[in-house]
Amino acid sequence: MERVKIRTRDRYEVLIGRNITDEAVKMLLPNGKHIVLIWDEAVPSQYVAELGNALEEAGKEVMACAVQGGEDAKSIESFQNICGLLSDFSMARTDTIIGIGGGTVTDLAGFIASTYKRGLDLCEIPTTLIGAADAAIGGKNALNLGGRKNIIGTFYQPSLVLVDTKYLDTLPDETFAEGCSEVIKYGFLGDPDLIMMLEARPLTENRRDSAYLEEILKRCIKLKAYFVVEDERDNGIRNILNFGHTLGHAIETQSSYRIHHGEAVAMGMALITRAAENRGLAERGTYTRLINLLEKHDLEWRCPYNLNVLLSHVAEDKKIRDGYINLVIPRRAGECTLKGMTDEELRTFLDVRK
Ligand SMILES: NC(=O)c1ccc[n+]([C@@H]2O[C@H](COP(=O)([O-])OP(=O)(O)OC[C@H]3O[C@@H](n4cnc5c(N)ncnc54)[C@H](O)[C@@H]3O)[C@@H](O)[C@H]2O)c1
Repeated sequence: MERVKIRTRDRYEVLIGRNITDEAVKMLLPNGKHIVLIWDEAVPSQYVAELGNALEEAGKEVMACAVQGGEDAKSIESFQNICGLLSDFSMARTDTIIGIGGGTVTDLAGFIASTYKRGLDLCEIPTTLIGAADAAIGGKNALNLGGRKNIIGTFYQPSLVLVDTKYLDTLPDETFAEGCSEVIKYGFLGDPDLIMMLEARPLTENRRDSAYLEEILKRCIKLKAYFVVEDERDNGIRNILNFGHTLGHAIETQSSYRIHHGEAVAMGMALITRAAENRGLAERGTYTRLINLLEKHDLEWRCPYNLNVLLSHVAEDKKIRDGYINLVIPRRAGECTLKGMTDEELRTFLDVRK
């Protein structure tokens, strides 16, 4: 079992390995009496039952709340329903929520844990590649509202993240490929060796090689940990994790979430990288390398929408400060930089006329 320490103000660990849940159960035993498992019903129920039984054998009272994964899980309605259940279960501030699911369910669990009674203990068990490489780590959570992505949220670090790769076994190939988009993002923003590994052995073709999958996850998690610790509240350098996300979120919103997060990020990275290379900001060949890697991982990178339409959503982006958006621009495969741009500058950069 690998351990990555996240040295935020409240420190915690990410445990990475295969079939490590049983061993990790003792670390999931805080002081409180009650534990609520908020789990994606797509996760095999046997895993949830085994975890629940182990916690009960250790003297805890456990309640499991199933939710349907997907962007609808990140809604006020889900939040309200689960808070009602927590209240019926007499959850106290010393009690624990365990989120078991993809990024949507761990975002929902994190938001609930951070707000119910002003904060419960939180453990995240990611069950998708996006969740394991990215979403469950770093303490950001969010709900969507009125078609706007991640518009409500808090910063709230978990006390433990358990990345047990057994959960990823049942992911459909397309969902696994969507996760590869975030993995490729990590390579481009700071790990050239990761890019070379993925070029030589695409993760989609090697997902059953547990040691390889764990090595890739460890690299992504370490890089994320670095930026999160440097800038826990996302006021500066942590913005770099948004490579491909400014346009990606606009694509998700425009498609009413029919284009999933990972696919939208792939399209967003492709659009920004092409523009960066055209403007002489990225080294020649960066775009081709990105596109080839996305294709090797079965990811569609061609955006079906007009950039003008996407920019109308970008204008609503919560990261705009004093009229500037902090855009993540690749310099080469393995290095990105941040550049503040006004709406006008962004249009010029992307070569879009009003
Ligand atoms: N908080 C953060 O820092 C952060 C970072 C990146 C992404 N995100 C968020 O994460 C979300 C995307 O995450 P995602 O791609 O995991 O989406 P998701 O949670 O919708 O999961 C994708 C699909 O996989 C299913 N699924 C989950 N686990 C499964 C399993 N073990 N077997 C079979 N199917 C399973 C889900 O039901 C869903 O249909 C977005 O909402 C995004 O905004 C958050």
